Amino acid sequence: MNAPIQLHEQPNGVTRRKFIKGVIAAGAAVSASSYLFRGPEQLFGQGSLPGAVERLMTLSVNGQQRRVDVMKQETLAMTLRYKLGLTGTKLGCDRSECGACTVLIDDVPHYACSMLTHSLRGRKVQTIEGLAAPDGTLHPVQQAVVDEQGFQCAFCMSGFIMSTVGFLKTNPNPTREPLAHGISGNLCRCADYNKILTAMMRGAENLRRA
Ligand code: FES
Ligand code: FES
Repeated sequence: MNAPIQLHEQPNGVTRRKFIKGVIAAGAAVSASSYLFRGPEQLFGQGSLPGAVERLMTLSVNGQQRRVDVMKQETLAMTLRYKLGLTGTKLGCDRSECGACTVLIDDVPHYACSMLTHSLRGRKVQTIEGLAAPDGTLHPVQQAVVDEQGFQCAFCMSGFIMSTVGFLKTNPNPTREPLAHGISGNLCRCADYNKILTAMMRGAENLRRA
């Protein structure tokens, strides 16, 4: 008789079923493969050790104070997406290469995949969800994207918008070249850079008129 099919047993003994249980228990989900191959003790035994960082913290996000339980190795991208439900911040590479996860921290663009959430006590985080006005009016840069239809699949869009909004805080009247340089930390896999730049230039213009 054939042996029952195992659920993707990993070399370290973590099955897919055990992994999913661990994720639910921790209140977090993960997307990068680097998270998949940790030992069971790392997935399940997340209790604080003596001298460890306090897990419960208050994070200022989009003008709100959010209490959140954060693991010491947790990145801001993980906290935003999987603890706070702010999935407008995208995870592309998860290693500081693509800019899909760009958010503003104290008004400066940063890669959320490369910031530890615990390091952000007392800092102000703004995500794409925090750009529109309370009445739903889009931010001028968001409106420019709608007007210009500046993206194809738009996976990279929120990162580009956040980078542009951050850049325009220091240079509100850029020509095309400095703006291109200012947002060069963002990649688009559809490679529609010319159209994106046109949309971002229109965003700058919208912002000056607002
Ligand atoms: S997901 Fe953060 S830079 Fe790519
Ligand atoms: S529009 Fe598809 S990744 Fe940029």
